[in-house]
Amino acid sequence: MAHQPLTAHLPRVPLAFLPTPIHDLPRLRHALPGCPRLLIKRDDQTGLASGGNKTRKLEFLLGDALARGADTLITPGGPQSNHCRQTAAAAARYGLRCVLVLSGEPLPRDRWDGNLLLDDLLGAEVRWTGGRPREEVMAEVVAEVAAGGGRPYVIPTGGSVPVGATGYVAAVEELAGQLAVQGERVDRIVLVAGSGGTHAGVLVGVKALDLGAAVIGMNNFAIPDIGGTVRALAAATAEYLSLRLNFTDTDFIFYDACGPHAYGVITAAEREGIRLLAQTEGIVLDPVYTGRAFAQLVSLIRAGIFHPEETILFWHTGGLPGLLARSADLLRE
Ligand SMILES: Cc1ncc(COP(=O)(O)O)c(C=O)c1O
Repeated sequence: MAHQPLTAHLPRVPLAFLPTPIHDLPRLRHALPGCPRLLIKRDDQTGLASGGNKTRKLEFLLGDALARGADTLITPGGPQSNHCRQTAAAAARYGLRCVLVLSGEPLPRDRWDGNLLLDDLLGAEVRWTGGRPREEVMAEVVAEVAAGGGRPYVIPTGGSVPVGATGYVAAVEELAGQLAVQGERVDRIVLVAGSGGTHAGVLVGVKALDLGAAVIGMNNFAIPDIGGTVRALAAATAEYLSLRLNFTDTDFIFYDACGPHAYGVITAAEREGIRLLAQTEGIVLDPVYTGRAFAQLVSLIRAGIFHPEETILFWHTGGLPGLLARSADLLRE
């Protein structure tokens, strides 16, 4: 059904290679008895120094930043934040200064690998919190940039604010168009819920377009209250886009089947899931986000939760550089 683009009125800059491909996973399906039809949406291929979901959010966040006359992006994260790396790449593309506020004590430079290495290559400045509250260091950096005559734009954790989540509302419009062309229908969309912006944006898009797919967030324990966060963010994003949507409890579906493992802990389930997809389809996940979500999906398939006739779409949200920094944990038996 043709519709007016939901996000066309908002400032947006081109950053991503779109549309990202959708394809099926025949060898994985063969290797997993009882596996329903499984599609994958390749947001690991969005571009920006190896891709990932933040590229879509950053199209709107940078659009907003530039519309406000900002010249410096400031954002927080962990040392292996995919979000920080993509923000650094986006800043480089638009000639902006980028300051990353990374949690923890400063790491010696010969241990800067994965995303952190890329942050440096991309020209981002790194400030370590050194155990101080993140917000305190963020406020300090904002004040310093402003005092130096710069115009700061703060991107909160993971870009998970309505402006950023809008990237995934647009992504669902893209998905709906692809499904229509391919004559496909999707019953469930499975993704990892980290800081919640991707899940919230997808949910708003699915509701607004009446796609009829359940959105399942695999909790990776990046934040304490993923359910409450996604609810609030979905409502705020719908309001930001002037959409009148009615959410009910059944719209918010979360699993943490691999729990209770803390954020970033790599278990046998993630190791097996990553190898399974890599060795059946040649697709690499990351251990902290997509690998955990995929491991949970595999456990649900093995538990016979899904009907063999239904179609599930796994949304690959990137993270490859983070994987490259975790070889010791991944090679463990
Ligand atoms: C590879 C990857 N996938 C998924 C996510 C989670 O996205 P969100 O924070 O929007 O929940 C992240 C967050 O950093 C990520 O790096």
